[in-house]
Amino acid sequence: MDFAGKAAIVTGGSTGIGFAIAAHLVHLGVRVMVCARHGTDVESAVARLGGDRTKVMGRSCDVRSLDDVTAMVDAAVNAWGGLDIVINNAGVGHLGSFEDLTVQQWHDTIDTNLTGVFNVCRAALPALKASGGHIVNMGSRSSRNPNPQSIFYTASKFGLLGFSEALALDLRRHGVRVTSILPGIVATEFAGVGVQPWQLIPEDVAKAVADVLSFDARVLPTIVELRPARQPS
Ligand SMILES: NC(=O)c1ccc[n+]([C@@H]2O[C@H](COP(=O)([O-])OP(=O)(O)OC[C@H]3O[C@@H](n4cnc5c(N)ncnc54)[C@H](OP(=O)(O)O)[C@@H]3O)[C@@H](O)[C@H]2O)c1
Repeated sequence: MDFAGKAAIVTGGSTGIGFAIAAHLVHLGVRVMVCARHGTDVESAVARLGGDRTKVMGRSCDVRSLDDVTAMVDAAVNAWGGLDIVINNAGVGHLGSFEDLTVQQWHDTIDTNLTGVFNVCRAALPALKASGGHIVNMGSRSSRNPNPQSIFYTASKFGLLGFSEALALDLRRHGVRVTSILPGIVATEFAGVGVQPWQLIPEDVAKAVADVLSFDARVLPTIVELRPARQPS
């Protein structure tokens, strides 16, 4: 992909992995819309991304709401004149045993990590079909490895991987590609274990995203798994 002038949406782009992806794409010349729920964090991210509104926009948007998402996608398409890249990165996780986690936490996890991705794909599809665009969905090692301390998160990420793989096979007939990135533990607040030297960093994931977007249009990279090269200590 020739990145210059392309248009992207990064959900959960205010912090952590999403912010690193947005920064990498802006560096490559992509116009980026970042969204997250907390508007002040979004505005701060836009400022840290250079603050040039012709290149970076921000929007408070809750991916759990199809109305919110549709308005956000429409704003990006209207501003940029189209849409080439969608990064479904927004995600939440709740730790605890099955008995300790709440019904509300179940709905929060599934509504954000799974329905949120559905909402964005649904709203962005017409623009992506027009551009022959690319969707990147943020999975996890938990997309394949069950974790008894994050059962709801595991369920959401297994579900997301199934959704992404089936969607990739459906949308390729429209020239739209779908890729899942499955990182191991990445040093962000979300990981919640403090930064360890062996951990991946958000920029590693951002580079992997740019790499899959760079594949020739003939190639559909469906799953990229990233693990720390060093054994956790
Ligand atoms: N860190 C890791 O070890 C790791 C490993 C593998 C995969 N991942 C995945 O990578 C993604 C990003 O994780 P991270 O570590 O960067 O987490 P993070 O620093 O907590 O960032 C999460 C982002 O998602 C946004 N968000 C959460 N709920 C949202 C909603 N309903 N609507 C819109 N935005 C929402 C947050 O902003 P607001 O709170 O303002 O909405 C924030 O911008 C997640 O999908 C996570 O599952 C993380």
